[in-house]
Amino acid sequence: MKPRAALNQLEPYVPGKAISGGIKLSSNENPLGSSPRALAAIREAIGAGTADLNRYPDPAIHRLKEKLARFWNTDSEMLIVGNGSDETLVMIAGAFMEPGLNAVTARHTFSQYTFATTIFGGRMRYADMPEGAFDLPAIRDLIDQDTRLVFLCNPNNPTATAFTHDALVTFLREVPDHVVVVIDEAYGEFADSPDYPRTIELIARHSNLIRLRTFSKIYGLAGLRIGYGTAQKELIGLISKLRQPFNVGTVAQEAAAAALDDREFVESSILNNVAGRDRICAALDHLGIDYYPSSANFVCTHFPAQTHIGLRADKVVQQLANRHIAVRPLGSFGLPDYVRISVGTPEEVTAVCEALAEAVDTDPGRHR
Ligand SMILES: Cc1ncc(COP(=O)(O)O)c(C=O)c1O
Repeated sequence: MKPRAALNQLEPYVPGKAISGGIKLSSNENPLGSSPRALAAIREAIGAGTADLNRYPDPAIHRLKEKLARFWNTDSEMLIVGNGSDETLVMIAGAFMEPGLNAVTARHTFSQYTFATTIFGGRMRYADMPEGAFDLPAIRDLIDQDTRLVFLCNPNNPTATAFTHDALVTFLREVPDHVVVVIDEAYGEFADSPDYPRTIELIARHSNLIRLRTFSKIYGLAGLRIGYGTAQKELIGLISKLRQPFNVGTVAQEAAAAALDDREFVESSILNNVAGRDRICAALDHLGIDYYPSSANFVCTHFPAQTHIGLRADKVVQQLANRHIAVRPLGSFGLPDYVRISVGTPEEVTAVCEALAEAVDTDPGRHR
C-alpha cells in the first residue's frame, strides 16, 4: 500500500467524553434535548410511513431548502445542505484546496478546518489569538497568493469569543478576491450581542463569502447530522459539485424542516443558556477562576500554573469526572491550561458549580 503523504499529517479527532450515567458538559450539545417539533415530525414520518425509507432521500433537499430560503429571506440556490457542518467543510476544502496551496485560521479553534484542508494536501496557517479572540488583521496578514480559504469561527469553539459586524466588514474589504472566507456560525444563535455580524447581508455584497450554520446545536439534532451553508449562487454551485447525491437522509431532512418552525424551543434554549452561562460565570468569579467572555453555549475557563488556586486544568477535569461530570480539557486545541464547560440544564449547572467549588476547596495546592 502507498497511502497519500497527507495522511501522515492528520491528527485523529478528539471527541468530548461522556461518563456513563453522569452529566455531559463536554460537547456543547443542547441540554434540553431535541426540538419537540422535529421529534414529532420524525415520529409522524416513520409511524405513518410517509418517510418511505425504502426509497433514497430527496437528492435536491428541496423542501428544507425552500424553508431555509424563506427563513433567511434568501434564495434556495444560495444554499447547500450537508451531513453536518463537518461534511460541508470538507466539500468546501475539496473545491479549493490542493498541494502547494494554503488556508488560514486562528491557532485555537475547531479542528475540522485543519482536517478538511489537510486531506486535500493544503497547509494550514495559524494566527495568534490575543485574549482568545480571532485577530482578523493578523489573519489577513497571513494571506498570500497561494491562500484559497480562510476559516473564521464566530463565536469561536473553544474560546467562546465573538468578533463584531464592523470588524468583519473591514476584514472582507481587505481580503483579496482569490480567497474564499468561510464563517462557521455553529453557535451563532447563542450570540446575543447587538453587534454580532449580520452575515447574510454581507453575502449579498461578497461573492467569496460562505456562512455555515448547523441543526446540531440550538435545534438539538446533533445525532441526525445536518447543517447548511449560504453563499452566492456561483460559489454554492462550485461546492455542490462535491456533494454526494444522497448526502442527507430523509429523516434528517424532515426533522430539520420541522425544527426550523420551532421558535418556542429555540427561545427556551436561548433563555436556558443565558441563565446557565450567567450562573457559571458568577460561580467562576466567586472562586477567582478566570475565563473568556462567552457569546456561546459554553465557557472557556483558565487554570494557569501559578495562581492563588493551586488547581491545574487536568486535575479539574479529573475532579469533576470523580463527581460524574464530563467537561472538555483543551490540550487538543493547543490550550493545556484551559477547560471548556458546556452550559447544561439548571440542575446540571448547579452540579458543576458545586463540583468546581468543592474541587477548589479541597485542593491541597490552594494557597489563598
Ligand atoms: C465550531 C463548530 N463548527 C461545526 C461543528 C460541527 O457541526 P455539525 O454537527 O453540524 O457537523 C462544531 C461541533 O462541535 C463546532 O464546534
